[in-house]
Amino acid sequence: MLQEIMTVVSQEQLAPKIFEMRLTGELVKEMQTPDQFLHLLVPRKDLILRRPISIAEIIPERQECVIIYRVDGDGTAAMSELMAGDKIDVMGPLGNGYPLDKVKPGEKALIIGGGIGVPPLYELSKQLVAMGVKVQHVFGFATQEVIFYEEKFKKLGDVLYSTDDGSYGLHGHVGMALDTLDSDYVPDVVYACGSRGLLMAVENRYENSNAYFSLEARMACGMGACYACVCHKKDDPTGATSMKVCDEGPVFKVGEVVL
Ligand code: FES
Repeated sequence: MLQEIMTVVSQEQLAPKIFEMRLTGELVKEMQTPDQFLHLLVPRKDLILRRPISIAEIIPERQECVIIYRVDGDGTAAMSELMAGDKIDVMGPLGNGYPLDKVKPGEKALIIGGGIGVPPLYELSKQLVAMGVKVQHVFGFATQEVIFYEEKFKKLGDVLYSTDDGSYGLHGHVGMALDTLDSDYVPDVVYACGSRGLLMAVENRYENSNAYFSLEARMACGMGACYACVCHKKDDPTGATSMKVCDEGPVFKVGEVVL
């Protein structure tokens, strides 16, 4: 486990309550796998808990990484006030990200995301495209105004959107958008990140496929010591076998754990 006081390169608001922060530091050399996360300690004395935020982009040539997060409490609100040149204590990269060895050049990857589950899928999509994989994205958001990185994703592959209020793309949830894919479209691998409802929709369709999803969980230590983040294995009839999302996940094979 590595830790560093990283430097903020920039902070930008992408949408209401959604912020993009660029960080630089030696730790970037350790970042390789999409959907690993950083555990950030906001530099304010009354905020003692770290915040786990997934890595949205790794830019090794500039020794920078990008995180995209939603302001939903004191910690993330304080984080959003940091400016270029400010410092932040970062642990990571933590967790097991998406496996890239499950797909080959020339094959098809379906990338499914919802809301603030979308950011780590950007680095994933970038790495897949660099490998020669053809990517199709299906994303769900609450409304058009909270969509971010639309042009960036479109440069990587097709993007199908749904919004809860119908303000952009298909009116409805991601499962409905998945139903509109061509019936002869069969992905070689599926990757997903989003709400429990979204993951259940993915599980219903792709449980017996080569599919992986990233689980969200409340975390404390972020490195397997406190059991704050456990989920349960599906193939254990006693329901007693727990897995820690922070260090055995956050990415699991679809069907491996109980949602
Ligand atoms: Fe402590 Fe996962 S957050 S074990």
